[in-house]
Amino acid sequence: MDGGRIAGASTARDREMKKDFWLERWDRGEIGFHQDEVNPYLIQYWPQLHLARDSVVFVPLCGKSRDMLWLRERGHRVLGVELSAVAVQAFFKENGYIPQHVSQHQVTGGKFDRCEANGIRILCGDFFDLSKDDLADVGAAYDRASLIALPPDMRERYARHLVSILPPATQILLVTVEYPQAEMQGPPFSVTSSEVATLYREHAELRLLAQLDVLAKNPRFQERGLSRLQESIFLLTLR
Ligand SMILES: C[S@@+](CC[C@H](N)C(=O)[O-])C[C@H]1O[C@@H](n2cnc3c(N)ncnc32)[C@H](O)[C@@H]1O
Repeated sequence: MDGGRIAGASTARDREMKKDFWLERWDRGEIGFHQDEVNPYLIQYWPQLHLARDSVVFVPLCGKSRDMLWLRERGHRVLGVELSAVAVQAFFKENGYIPQHVSQHQVTGGKFDRCEANGIRILCGDFFDLSKDDLADVGAAYDRASLIALPPDMRERYARHLVSILPPATQILLVTVEYPQAEMQGPPFSVTSSEVATLYREHAELRLLAQLDVLAKNPRFQERGLSRLQESIFLLTLR
């Protein structure tokens, strides 16, 4: 992850600006958050979900994450949502797929362009426009660099929306980072364990699977002045 700047308040205009922020980053190729390798925590902790192979896994704010390929290789069908068409096109192209494309204009009331290949479907549009119907088949969700991509006011809105559209009993594997927020501007934003509890405890059982000090492995963040950097992995099960 790198640390661009993003504003804090939450009017409709601010929200459009925040969307522009991400669209511009993709347009300029400023995607320090993207990982060429599959996330090691996904590989280590996903088996704890005991999810049936053909279940649908929702990946919010998916970017062009290769983690979606790993989930597909486990037999799951994958449903991502991503704002940037640049990211969506890059995902399929870089992984050698020619996706089927359905434009939002071909569907009554459609809010998303849909691209799909090999059991991986990505809805291109705004996460906050997703409805329960869009996620009706989902059995689990995987959140890496999604909650932490958002400033505090949007995190609250994100969590509220996520739990309102996911089916009951959905499991969520959530990876967060925590650091002294005063030492660096997000994204990624620092999200503490107590914030995760505040956001989700009313709607989900929470288990902290691991918490690791990772500053030594992240020289870029040391250079930016961080004195502490922790990653946490949670398993949430919606009620
Ligand atoms: C920090 S990146 C993480 C991407 C991905 N999860 C990964 O691990 O590489 C956050 C992503 O969220 C996307 N995004 C931001 N706001 C969004 C929104 N409201 N709806 C859908 N995608 C959004 C951005 O375009 C960006 O690709």
